[in-house]
Amino acid sequence: MINIQSKKLMSAIAAFLIAIGPAITVYANETSNRDMSAKPAVSSTANSVKTGNNSATFQAIIAHGKKEYNNHCLKCHTDQVFTRKNHFIKSLDALKKRVVRCKNANNILWFDKDTNAVVQYLNQKYYKFK
Ligand code: HEC
Repeated sequence: MINIQSKKLMSAIAAFLIAIGPAITVYANETSNRDMSAKPAVSSTANSVKTGNNSATFQAIIAHGKKEYNNHCLKCHTDQVFTRKNHFIKSLDALKKRVVRCKNANNILWFDKDTNAVVQYLNQKYYKFK
């Protein structure tokens, strides 16, 4: 009885989160500008995406990003959010901002290099921005 009720509660919460997702995005956009100080580190290393660098270093970054992503980001959504038809993210810059926002919103304690690795991993695997 309690179990069924808490399951219902969980799915109600999940539905609510999905429904208010876009609002959270707008809110985070307005409030997290200061957190964007993390950005330079992300942009500078993202150059290796542009040049299609296949070095061992790049492969290590991708592997690291994959691990961090799998550990911290798979709670709410599957990879479908990246591949769905009208996905939000349309540029490498938007992807960086979104990963930073999702990180901050979930109190994930990543260094810039971790955040950057996740950006590169998602870009290499799904978005493929130049
Ligand atoms: C608390 C739940 C939650 C967690 C944890 C979470 N996300 Fe999200 N994320 C969402 C929701 C909800 C959406 C979709 C919003 C919508 O469709 O309106 C989303 C969308 C995204 C998108 C945009 C997809 C697109 O192109 O439309 C990216 C990129 C993303 N998340 C990355 C991440 C990363 C990286 C992490 C780990 C740091 C993460 N998310 C953790 C809830 C979460």
